[in-house]
Amino acid sequence: MKKRLISVVAIIIAVVLIAVFSANSTNLPENGTPDELMQAVILENQCLSCHNPQAPVPFYAKIPFVGKLIAYDMFAGLRSIDLNAPLVNLQQGKPVADSVREKLLRVAQKNTMPPLQYVVVHWNSWLTKAERQVIIDWAMYARRKASKGMPSAEEFKAEPVQPLPEKVEINSAKAALGKILYFDTRLSGDNTISCASCHGLNTGGVDRSKYSKGIKGQFGDINAPTVFNAALNFCQFWDGRAKNLEEQAGGPPLNPVEMGSKDWDEIISKLNKDAALKAEFAKVYPDGITAKNITNAIAEFELTLLTPDSKFDRYLKGDKTAMTKDEIEGYELFKEHGCATCHAGVNLGGSSFEYMNGDYFAHRGNIAKPDLGRLNQTKSPVDEHKFKTPTLRNVAVTAPYYHDGSVATLKQATELMLKHQCRTTLPDSDVDKIVKFLEALTGKYEGKLLK
Ligand code: HEC
Ligand code: HEC
Ligand code: HEC
Repeated sequence: MKKRLISVVAIIIAVVLIAVFSANSTNLPENGTPDELMQAVILENQCLSCHNPQAPVPFYAKIPFVGKLIAYDMFAGLRSIDLNAPLVNLQQGKPVADSVREKLLRVAQKNTMPPLQYVVVHWNSWLTKAERQVIIDWAMYARRKASKGMPSAEEFKAEPVQPLPEKVEINSAKAALGKILYFDTRLSGDNTISCASCHGLNTGGVDRSKYSKGIKGQFGDINAPTVFNAALNFCQFWDGRAKNLEEQAGGPPLNPVEMGSKDWDEIISKLNKDAALKAEFAKVYPDGITAKNITNAIAEFELTLLTPDSKFDRYLKGDKTAMTKDEIEGYELFKEHGCATCHAGVNLGGSSFEYMNGDYFAHRGNIAKPDLGRLNQTKSPVDEHKFKTPTLRNVAVTAPYYHDGSVATLKQATELMLKHQCRTTLPDSDVDKIVKFLEALTGKYEGKLLK
């Protein structure tokens, strides 16, 4: 009780101090580019003391109570966002991830950073109004920069989400070979399973099961994400263990519960017996059928698996009639409640790893290895229960949801997100509008709306 009283008094004193001093505690340069000013805000306000994997532990971390709070903040802060990597990008003039941009914008708008108990110790770290405006201006500038060359209408150039491109540059000969291989069951040990068995192009790019059925009736332990628009993800798999599509495509053929081939030699010798395929390969790849060329061709094919022209895309391109009033309101709610801080950019996701609140697992029970998420790759405690944010494109046709495939409907998926990721609840009518918006994200493949 006494401890609580002391900290409440300390916080009140801090708030008064901040009010007095914050007006003129800015050390921002007089002028600079948005990127330069943004760097100054991060550095001047000691944001890196909690958002940097290399942050030293401060001396007062040893003080009882206060120390514990600070240690927790450093852990939770880094788990929430690493600002060191984006800072380096800013210094090198490179874009920062969509989700990082959106989160920075949100904390500036809501005035939530740094946490109060940190400001008590470092009162000059408080973001002044001018500094928050720098962040807001920078985020708008960065959004516009990111949307350059995209097909959005001028009025939507500064939206957190952008429409899919109609087409991307591909090598069509490679993609044609990749398409054959994508449907080719010879990649599996007993010639029964192809990529399409689990990622059917007529079933939303997924198998619509909780877990996927592989060779000899075996089941995996994690839900299959869609292949549609996977090319736009910053890495592949829920835990990000493949850095790109080519690396990803190398996984399933030799995975014992997926396609179960013994080794690449087995696959290559089967494919080499097919004279026509061998000849086609030789035309595109001088060294013929190799593991590298197989995965390269499949990855090229996957670049064609974009699904443009959803209602939402048409709306962003300037067609005012493309979305209903409810769908537009759903989009506004989606932004207002922070969904777009993680589900940002062209793919409405796929640009960061995000912590799935531990409450979710406590409630669900039975924590298994796949639930540890990114930690399985990095072994770092801050990565526990972190997953690559899934794309929300075509999400209406890819149930069940979440890495564990435990959520049956979009409505439930939305309610759980509100609870665990946004820490709020909304009236049913608002949840329904968000769901309607999500349903407007279904796009077209080869000119036909996904079903
Ligand atoms: C004392 C440690 C600490 C400092 C200093 C700090 N933060 Fe944080 N930050 C946190 C914690 C803890 C969270 C997670 C909050 C939560 O989950 O509710 C967080 C979350 C964030 C997020 C993600 C919010 C979201 O919506 O996901 C951003 C962005 C952020 N901080 C920016 C900043 C900036 C900018 C500064 C410097 C002005 C800063 N932080 C200083 C501890 C800190
Ligand atoms: C037996 C079912 C099965 C087969 C066969 C299969 N996959 Fe998958 N695929 C999955 C599952 C399950 C995951 C998620 C695994 C994880 O994240 O740990 C996945 C993940 C992916 C991803 C990552 C998507 C993302 O958002 O992270 C891509 C891309 C993909 N598969 C493409 C392919 C290709 C190409 C093939 C054929 C070479 C293939 N898959 C064969 C079940 C399968
Ligand atoms: C802090 C980041 C974050 C925020 C904020 C967030 N999400 Fe998510 N979302 C995720 C992650 C991570 C997953 C994957 C969770 C898992 O697999 O356990 C996910 C999964 C989903 C899924 C399931 C997709 C699939 O294919 O399985 C839907 C739908 C979804 N989110 C919608 C929303 C909505 C709507 C909001 C706002 C109410 C929202 N999200 C807010 C990070 C976030």
